[in-house]
Amino acid sequence: MNEKTSNRPGGAAPGADIADFVAALPKAELHLHIEGTFEPELMFAIAERNGVRLPYASVEEVRAAYAFSNLQDFLDIYYAGASVLLEAEDFHDLAAAYLARARADNVRHAEIFFDPQTHTDRGVPFAAVVEGLGRALDEAEARFGLTSRLIMCFLRHLDEAAAFDTLEAGLAHRDRIAGVGLDSSERGHPPSKFREVFRRARAAGLPAVAHAGEEGPPEYIREAIDLLEVVRIDHGNACLEDDDLVADLVRRRMPLTVCPLSNVRLRVVDDIAAHPLKRMLDRGLFVTVNSDDPAYFGGYVNDNYVAVAEALGLGRDDLVRLARNSFEASWLDGHAKASRLAELDAAAAPPAG
Ligand code: ADE
Ligand code: ZN
Repeated sequence: MNEKTSNRPGGAAPGADIADFVAALPKAELHLHIEGTFEPELMFAIAERNGVRLPYASVEEVRAAYAFSNLQDFLDIYYAGASVLLEAEDFHDLAAAYLARARADNVRHAEIFFDPQTHTDRGVPFAAVVEGLGRALDEAEARFGLTSRLIMCFLRHLDEAAAFDTLEAGLAHRDRIAGVGLDSSERGHPPSKFREVFRRARAAGLPAVAHAGEEGPPEYIREAIDLLEVVRIDHGNACLEDDDLVADLVRRRMPLTVCPLSNVRLRVVDDIAAHPLKRMLDRGLFVTVNSDDPAYFGGYVNDNYVAVAEALGLGRDDLVRLARNSFEASWLDGHAKASRLAELDAAAAPPAG
C-alpha cells in the first residue's frame, strides 16, 4: 500500500496527499456569500460593461487592498466591490463563476447567501438579483448536478424596519428563497435587534441562520438560538468561551459553519495553527468547513480543508467527518441527503485490493 492509497483512520493525513484526498471528497458548502466570490478579474469586466469606475487601476491593486485588520475593514471593501453589480446578467455571471469553481472543488451542494440590501439600496430591483442568481443555479444543477439554495441575509448594521421591507420583497420570490440569515458588522448589532423580523420569516415558513460569535460574544450565539430560533450558527467561534453554551450546542446538535481562512484574514484568530476547529471537533461540536468570501480570503473550500488539516494535524477520518457534517447540516431533503452521503462513503472508502 503506498501513501496515496492508504487510509489512516485517526492518523495524520500525509502531507502531499491531503489536497488530493480533500479534492476527492464530495462536500456541501453552507457558508458562502455570493458577493464574496467576486474575483477582481470579473469585477473589472463587469465594471467596464456597466460603465462604472472602480477606485483601483488594476487587478493587482485590488488584491493589494485585501489586507484586513478586522471584519469592518473587509466589509467596506466588499460592499464597494459589489457596487458594480447592476443587471440580472451581472448576478448570473457572478454565481456562474462561483459554481464552476465550486464544482472543481467537488462541491455537490451549496447554500448560498446574498445581501439584497447591498443591491436594492443602490436601486437594483430585488427581482434582477434573484433572477440572475437563480438562472445560474438552475444551469449548474442541469449541467453538472450541483444542487443549491439561496439564503437572503439582513444587514445587521441597518435597522429592523429595513429588514422587514427586505423580507417582504423576498417573499414575492418565495419559490427562490430557502431561508433567511443575518450578516455584516456584528459588534453592537445583537440578534435581539432582529427578533420580530425573524419571527415574521418563521411564520412565512423560512428557516433561519445567523452569523454569531465571529467577532461578537457568546451571548450573541445564545440570542440567535433563543430569540431568532436559528437552525445553524454561522461561525460560532466564541462559543468556546462559555462551557455551558458548548454543552447546549452539543446537546442540540447545532451545526456551526466555520470558516478557517476567513478567521485568519479577519484576525479572529492569530494564525491558522491557533484555529479552534480541532478543539471544536474534540468537544463534540457539529462543525462544518466553509470559505465565507473566498475571493477576498485567499482560498475556496478545499483550501480551507487543507489548511486546517495541515495546521491542526487532522486525520482522514476527521476530513470525512467534516464532509459528512456538511451534508447532514444542509437543507437537502432526506432522499437527496442520503444519496450525497452514499457518494461520500464511496469516495472515502479505501480502494479494494
Ligand atoms: N458578510 C460577508 N462576509 C461576512 C462575514 N465574515 N461576517 C459578517 N458578514 C459578512
Ligand atoms: Zn459569512
